[in-house]
Amino acid sequence: MTESITAENRGESVRLSDVSRRFGNLLAVDNVSLDIPAGSFFSLLGPSGCGKSTTLRIISGFEFPDGGQVFIGDEDVTRLDARRRPTVMVFQNYALFPHMSVKENVEYGLKVRKMKARDRENRVKESLDRVDMGEFLNTPVTSLSGGQQQRIALARAVAIEPDVILFDEPLSNLDVALRQQTRIELKALQRRLGLTSVYVTHDQEEALALSDQIAVMRNGKIIQVGPPKQLYNEPESAFVASFLGGSNILTNPKDALLFTGLTINESQAVAIRSEHVQVVESGGVEGEVLSRQFLGMITEIELMVQGTKLVVKTTNNVPDTSHLSVKIVASQIVKNDL
Ligand SMILES: Nc1ncnc2c1ncn2[C@@H]1O[C@H](COP(=O)(O)OP(=O)(O)OP(=O)(O)O)[C@@H](O)[C@H]1O
Ligand SMILES: [Mg+2]
Repeated sequence: MTESITAENRGESVRLSDVSRRFGNLLAVDNVSLDIPAGSFFSLLGPSGCGKSTTLRIISGFEFPDGGQVFIGDEDVTRLDARRRPTVMVFQNYALFPHMSVKENVEYGLKVRKMKARDRENRVKESLDRVDMGEFLNTPVTSLSGGQQQRIALARAVAIEPDVILFDEPLSNLDVALRQQTRIELKALQRRLGLTSVYVTHDQEEALALSDQIAVMRNGKIIQVGPPKQLYNEPESAFVASFLGGSNILTNPKDALLFTGLTINESQAVAIRSEHVQVVESGGVEGEVLSRQFLGMITEIELMVQGTKLVVKTTNNVPDTSHLSVKIVASQIVKNDL
C-alpha cells in the first residue's frame, strides 16, 4: 500500500520546562518554559542574539539543554537525538544539496528513513504538488530562484511527515514582495497539514501575520506570550510595547502625567503607540518637527514636545510646517524594563 500524507495530520504539542543553555559565561537560554499546543503556529520573536535559534535547536535535538526538560506530545525527548525526534527544521539558507535535482533533494530524507522506492516516488510528487512545484521534479536545484528553492526546502520538510516543523528565519533571504507571498502560502500549507509550527523571526510583522501565539524573547528569557492582538494591544512591559509595533515610552512620571494624565511609579512607564499620537489643527500641544519620513501609506514624524520626543505615525496628509499640534488619544501603563 502507498503511504501518503494524511490531510489532517495534527501535529504534536511541544513543551519546554525550565530549559536553560549556557555557552561559557553567557546564559543564551535562561529558564524558558513554553506550552505550544498541537497544530498551532507559534513564533519566537526577539532581537538578534536573544536566544531564539538556540531554543529552536533545543526543540530539534541539535542542541541539548544544561537544565530543564523538552516534551513532544507526552514524550520526554530532552536527551533524544535529533534523528529520533518527530521534528524537521527549515533554514534561512534552505540547506538544499546543490549537486542534486529537486526530486533527489525531496527524496533524501525518505531514503534515510528507508522508505520503499515506489512509496518514495509518490511521496515526493505529493510533497512537490503541495508547494506547487510538481513540474520541477528533474530540475537541478541550483537553477531555481530563491523563492522556488525555499518551496523545495518546505516540500522536503513535509515529505517526512513530521509532527513538528521548526523554521529558523526561513524567509529572510527573499525580497519583500516574495516574503509576503510566501508567508501567505506557508500559513495556508501549515493550516492544511495541521502541523505544529515553531517559527523563529526578528521580524515583528511576520510574527504578527503568521502566528496563533507569539513569545517575545530578550536576553535568553521569555518576556511575554500571547496571541498577536493581545501582545500588540496589551503589552505588559516597555520592551514589548516598543519592540512590537513601536511605541513612545515615557519613564519620567512628570512627563507621563503631563501628556497622558496617568500616574506612574519608578518601576513603571507609559507606552503610547505612534498611531495614538494624532496631529490636530487645534486643541493639542504644540511640538517642533525634528524629522519627517514619507513611507507611502503612512508618514512618520519625530516631534519635540515640551522637551519630550514623540514619534507620530499618521495616514493623514499633514501640512509641511515646522511645528505641529498633537493629541494623545490612548496610552497605557506598562512595566519599565528598559
Ligand atoms: N555554539 C555556540 N557557542 C557559543 N555561543 C553561542 C553558540 N550558539 C549561540 N551562541 C550565543 O548565544 C546567544 C544566542 O544565540 P542565538 O543564535 O540563539 O540567537 P538568535 O536570537 O537566534 O539571534 P539571531 O536573530 O541573530 O539569529 C548569542 O549571544 C550567541 O552568540
Ligand atoms: Mg538565530
